[in-house]
Amino acid sequence: MLMTDIIAAKRDGGELTREQIEFFVRGVTDGSIPDYQSAALLMAIVWRGMNRRETLDLTLAMMNSGDTLDLSSISGVKADKHSTGGVGDKTSLALLPMVAAQGVRMAKMSGRGLGHTGGTLDKLESFPGFSSALTHEQFLNQVERVGFAIAGQTADLDPADKKLYALRDVTGTVQSIPLIVSSIMSKKLAAGADVIVLDVKTGSGAFMKTEADALTLAREMVEIGRLAGRKTVACITDMDQPLGNAVGNALEVKEALALLKGEYHGDLEELCLTLGSCILTGAGAAKDEAEARAKLERGIADGSALEKFAEFIEAQGGDRRAVYDESLLPAAPVRYEARAESSGFVRHIDAQGVGLVSMHLGGGRETAESGIDLAVGVELHKKRGDAVAAGESVATIHARDEAGAESAARLLLAAYDIGAEPPEAAPFVKAIVRED
Ligand code: URA
Repeated sequence: MLMTDIIAAKRDGGELTREQIEFFVRGVTDGSIPDYQSAALLMAIVWRGMNRRETLDLTLAMMNSGDTLDLSSISGVKADKHSTGGVGDKTSLALLPMVAAQGVRMAKMSGRGLGHTGGTLDKLESFPGFSSALTHEQFLNQVERVGFAIAGQTADLDPADKKLYALRDVTGTVQSIPLIVSSIMSKKLAAGADVIVLDVKTGSGAFMKTEADALTLAREMVEIGRLAGRKTVACITDMDQPLGNAVGNALEVKEALALLKGEYHGDLEELCLTLGSCILTGAGAAKDEAEARAKLERGIADGSALEKFAEFIEAQGGDRRAVYDESLLPAAPVRYEARAESSGFVRHIDAQGVGLVSMHLGGGRETAESGIDLAVGVELHKKRGDAVAAGESVATIHARDEAGAESAARLLLAAYDIGAEPPEAAPFVKAIVRED
């Protein structure tokens, strides 16, 4: 088989056979296909697309390019969650203990942040001693015993995606539904869960800018999950402004803890209840959404979700006392109020802009190797639709020094659009896409 024939077939709008797709993925994984040929095929796929059969074959070939996790030794139904990513997205920190406290086990592989979005592993390292480097056996044992675990993705899981994603990133070939679907779903399928819940973000701060594109992506992922034999649900949710109020590693941990303590109410809570309900109903732990929500809310009210989180932190080497005593978490020495220059209503907050403020303060990575400051970030006091008076604080900047705080405040105010009229109300959860 020749790679040049495969490239030409797709360039001319043809359908690739399963053998051709497997040949490509094998060659990418073992390095026998040079990057220029892979890049040419990726660009042909961007232009010509792939039908569902091709997308499924690509997904399965990528899933099988490395190790796959066998979770069958763990009792009960196992669930996993994926988010297409966004600013202030600390959902996993609260969602996993909420679900595990209801008896549904969750096995999650997570990543580190790069650029303006933070990674779950970085956030968790706010707990002194916490480690995400679990062996396969430790991971399985912890999911069984505690109810959930969050580990770094091993190099052996889906190596084809690692190579292809790096190449797509530098060749303008990220934006393609079949390539995004196969990238996300191959990793989720390799991670072994029976129930997969996908949080597909839409809006200016999201990967999918429009609701229509988010819906297309969600439908495709749900269908590929179903064809691969996993129960898959996708929620389409708003990322037209940061999620919750905190952006920055330790600040986001504190916000997730506030939710688990019943002290936070807002879009993050709504998201956790929505995704959590999809998981509980998908796993058969609740008969419908109302029952699932009631169980999740009870787990917050009676402290069991918070205690589950403390158990998890301790199991992964972290200091569980920090779950109950936030003074043990990193805190920045300087706090600075970013004050509105005019009165009106918050019409829009540029999520990416807020993410960049946090990065500017040292809370994000510019390259995969750079270190990060866990303590810094931004705490928003005003979100879309809120009234604001000139001189009132819209956000508190948490910084290392005054100079950094002042320039961050200027950048932050530029991310706020304040106008005379309130914006039109928009639902936070736009749609839920199920198999049926
Ligand atoms: N996230 C992924 O993991 N892959 C993509 O292609 C896009 C977003």
